[in-house]
Amino acid sequence: MLELLNGDNFRELLEHIDSGIQVVDNRGIIVYCNKRVAYLDHLNKDRAVGRHILEIYPSLDHKTSTILKVLESGKPIIDHLQTFVNYNGNRITTINTTLPIRVRGRIKGAVEISRDITQVKNLSERIVDLEAELIGDPGGDTPGRKISNRAVYSFMDIIGHNRDMLELKSLAFKASRTTSPVMVYGETGTGKELFVHAIHNASPRSRKPFIAQNCAALPATLLEGILFGTVKGSFTGADNRPGLFELASGGTLFLDEIDSMPIELQAKLLRVLQDGCVRRIGDAGTVYVDVRVIAATSTIPMDAVRSGSLREDLYYRLNVVSLRMPLLRERKDDIPLLIDHFIDMYNRTMGKAVTGISPKVREMFYSYSWPGNVRELQHVIEGAMNMIESPVITPDNLPQSFKEYFKNDITLKGYGPSLNQTLEQVERDMILSALGVSDMNITKAAQILDIPRQTLQYKMLKHNIK
Ligand SMILES: Nc1ncnc2c1ncn2[C@@H]1O[C@H](COP(=O)(O)OP(=O)(O)OP(=O)(O)O)[C@@H](O)[C@H]1O
Ligand SMILES: [Mg+2]
Repeated sequence: MLELLNGDNFRELLEHIDSGIQVVDNRGIIVYCNKRVAYLDHLNKDRAVGRHILEIYPSLDHKTSTILKVLESGKPIIDHLQTFVNYNGNRITTINTTLPIRVRGRIKGAVEISRDITQVKNLSERIVDLEAELIGDPGGDTPGRKISNRAVYSFMDIIGHNRDMLELKSLAFKASRTTSPVMVYGETGTGKELFVHAIHNASPRSRKPFIAQNCAALPATLLEGILFGTVKGSFTGADNRPGLFELASGGTLFLDEIDSMPIELQAKLLRVLQDGCVRRIGDAGTVYVDVRVIAATSTIPMDAVRSGSLREDLYYRLNVVSLRMPLLRERKDDIPLLIDHFIDMYNRTMGKAVTGISPKVREMFYSYSWPGNVRELQHVIEGAMNMIESPVITPDNLPQSFKEYFKNDITLKGYGPSLNQTLEQVERDMILSALGVSDMNITKAAQILDIPRQTLQYKMLKHNIK
């Protein structure tokens, strides 16, 4: 394959890549840049090639240029966040990976690959600004200023009387009285967020901010600034901005999917949890923050530790209180309660008067494995209630995707609800298909069914099969 990607082909390919690619020789002279670099940096490509990198990027110097650093040290720089002002005056943020180019062990140049994340950065900073506006006065007690709490659920909203669920609620309620970190884990749709809201709302911090951040939603390099804040600096191109830790001061910070947080950042988080102090990026000093941290994972945290996606020391620091959310299929006794709850909810919002579900639907709900847990059940009911004209939800009203699961399942074929009736029907179907396959040859059909010939004859009589 590599022979195919030689010379012109390779150049052509580089031109169509969505990342900027720039190559310099060992003196720092630009020997190649693709269209994307020219666009991002607002450069005239032809005039840039053949000139020194610092001549083309006057905002950089020997200390700040990653390309020159790599030429000097011979070591790659991976995923480095860089903000600079291009020739058009626009502020651009990129994530760069810079690698040395070695020929027979000697450094002959370097290549830099840059991904433009300007928009993602702008949006994420906007979110922090909005967060700050909503919160009003982070951590302060200025009279008359409203501190926003955006945890909407309380323990009242958690439906379930299953034993494990009741124990979990009681444990979570006890935890709401303390400031210890909490680790919540469970598969998608099991109610992790619901519990986290409820803990905050039942805690003495309920009048202080509640801020949630999904650690998988942002590039690693941005997450650090978002969590810990930044100070104005020419090199980073950052503004003075508090991080979510400062904004959540006095309240609760919910770090969802903590195992997606890059490992180096987990080390910084651990330091904050241990010292209670955060240092904004580029700042010399630290500020004390009083924030309760609740973290969540959708896998078993110890598995995340074993696979290397969660630091062990951070795990022990967070796992002071551990809440494992049961799967819906582990608490099927809660299904009727949840059904009634969601029917009531959608009756109110959709202006309907649905009273319940048919026995067939109940049977389907009990036999289903609910990989999407309570959220999936909620959506199936919501889907059905959009369709329904009558007061009772029947299989016809259920969303197509849900019915697909039961396509080959006996419950939808209209067999009787009793076990005996169902078994009789299955037996009759199997005999008929074995006779079909064997061309009505009873001996062969008995072999297929793995029963004695006489037994098959007896069963054919019983089912009136001639
Ligand atoms: N015990 C419950 N009682 C009532 N509603 C519930 C319960 N558990 C979950 N839900 C509902 O199911 C939906 C999903 O819950 P939630 O967002 O808390 O799940 P999650 O575990 O955080 O899922 P994910 O991992 O996908 O983020 C929500 O609409 C929530 O209201
Ligand atoms: Mg969630």
